[in-house]
Amino acid sequence: MSRKRIELSQLRSQRWFGAAGQPGNHKSYRTKQMGYTSEDFQGKPVIGILSTWSDLNSCHTHFPQRIEEVKRGVWQAGGFPVVMPTLSVGETYVRPSTLIYRNLLAMDAEEILRSHPIDGAVLLGGCDKTTPGLLMAAASVNIPAIFVPAGAMLRGHWRGQQMLGTGSSTWQALADYRAGKLDEKSWRQVGEGTARSPGTCNTMGTASTMTSMADALGLTLPGASSIPAVDATHSQMASTSGRRIVEMVWEDLRPKDIVTRQSFLNAVVTDMALSGSTNSLIHLVAMARRLGVELSLDDFSRASETVPVLCNLQPSGTYLMEDLFYAGGLLALLKRIAPHLDLSCQTVTGRTLGENIEQAEVYNDDVIRTEENPVYGAGGLVVLRGNLAPRGAVLKRAAAEPRLLQHTGPAVVFRNFQDMLARVDDPDLPVTADSVLVLQDSGPTGAPGMPEWGMLPIPKKLLAAGVRDMVRISDARMSGTSYGTCVLHVCPESRVGGLLGLVRDGDLVRLDTEGRRLDLLVDEAEIEARRKAWVAPPPHYERGFGLLHIEHVLQADEGCDLDFLAKQGTVPDPEARFS
Ligand code: FES
Repeated sequence: MSRKRIELSQLRSQRWFGAAGQPGNHKSYRTKQMGYTSEDFQGKPVIGILSTWSDLNSCHTHFPQRIEEVKRGVWQAGGFPVVMPTLSVGETYVRPSTLIYRNLLAMDAEEILRSHPIDGAVLLGGCDKTTPGLLMAAASVNIPAIFVPAGAMLRGHWRGQQMLGTGSSTWQALADYRAGKLDEKSWRQVGEGTARSPGTCNTMGTASTMTSMADALGLTLPGASSIPAVDATHSQMASTSGRRIVEMVWEDLRPKDIVTRQSFLNAVVTDMALSGSTNSLIHLVAMARRLGVELSLDDFSRASETVPVLCNLQPSGTYLMEDLFYAGGLLALLKRIAPHLDLSCQTVTGRTLGENIEQAEVYNDDVIRTEENPVYGAGGLVVLRGNLAPRGAVLKRAAAEPRLLQHTGPAVVFRNFQDMLARVDDPDLPVTADSVLVLQDSGPTGAPGMPEWGMLPIPKKLLAAGVRDMVRISDARMSGTSYGTCVLHVCPESRVGGLLGLVRDGDLVRLDTEGRRLDLLVDEAEIEARRKAWVAPPPHYERGFGLLHIEHVLQADEGCDLDFLAKQGTVPDPEARFS
């Protein structure tokens, strides 16, 4: 297929380097100041390599080498690579919530791309929020961009167990430790056994879900999301991405040419087949809105009704990301769910999704199941509505105990996270296995940033009695590696007046998964009286980015972006105004 090719004069960077007189000369001799010659950069597309590496991002420790490999590819293809560090957002270390900083990264990366002479971008991310943050930026600037996913770390092991999953296995070990069934030394060894190499969490947690979404959207080289971080083909993928982005610049192939509503629907279908992290609902909606594409919770709900879980990875299944790679990777899964996909969608390769998956094969039917033998039938993810969540709430049914899916029980309410920490293990807490644990004030503005507190700990006295799951409800998120009957993202959140904030101890709460409802069984007059008496808690921040966040963050059903970033609108190209 012959593709269009733009002229040198049409390169964005030429407005800087090609400007007549002093403006262009100034950029040229300042570039030579860094030791480059004219041959290095004149007449070449400038490729920004945006890296989320830092010494406090344990999942991106291989990025310095990958940056060199991307640069090698860019040089080979006749581009001029420039490395631009961005916010790192290492999930393990950043507090109070990385979701807040997803938006700051998106803003940082957008302005880096916009304000510099960059024609195309290679985006290096993977640890949870870095993928949506970078892609939201690329969508808003809409310059040619290709995403290089960090890849997952190797599978974990401990005392002969080969399937230790990051997060999932440590959550289970933590429950055993809290129940007194695992000693301190073993509990620590399990953690160390799950953190084996560079790369992101090795379960189908948020990181692997979101890199798979980038892949399904057509924004990575085909299948890049499944390559383990330390595999030689990961290096090859990085250099090939460097070569491809230079071609994409000449072809003027931009995110808005690639990603459409159909691409997002493909991503949602893939998400359901993967039993991906519930965080993906927030991130995909935010990404779609950056591109002006409509995507709602109902799109997830509809896909879930027809697409079974085929990917047998923790936390919903057995295996880990390394096993998915050996089983054929995401491309093999996409081939298996092809009847649910629009194969005509475009990708960064310049080819369609259908063309990209033509050669894919499944090599292990237990890791990538068939529709006749799914890990979980259709409906693995449920969007709930009802008086407690008029704008929606989310339950990952595939990760919940079936006996709790239809459940009515008395609420045990924690006013906020600190209240929960202080009381959850109190032997006098009036809680039974039938109680419904409710956590308030943990939403987008409440906590703020919807921290991953949604898998509330089972009270110690119930753990000791063998209880491992309960109905838990919050306006928080949950780690993609977590599990349990945890109703999340209750919208609107309690801090902005949502009914969740009015629940009191002993109120009956009904979870009706079949009916897709979540209700507080308290009569209207009483609810109205509580609403009248309700006073919003004071804001946590009086200045800084925290204040900007709480004043502008959208609710969970709208993707938790900042309202002024989510909107479409014109932004002048900076250099164009002065040359
Ligand atoms: Fe980085 Fe899980 S902590 S991906």
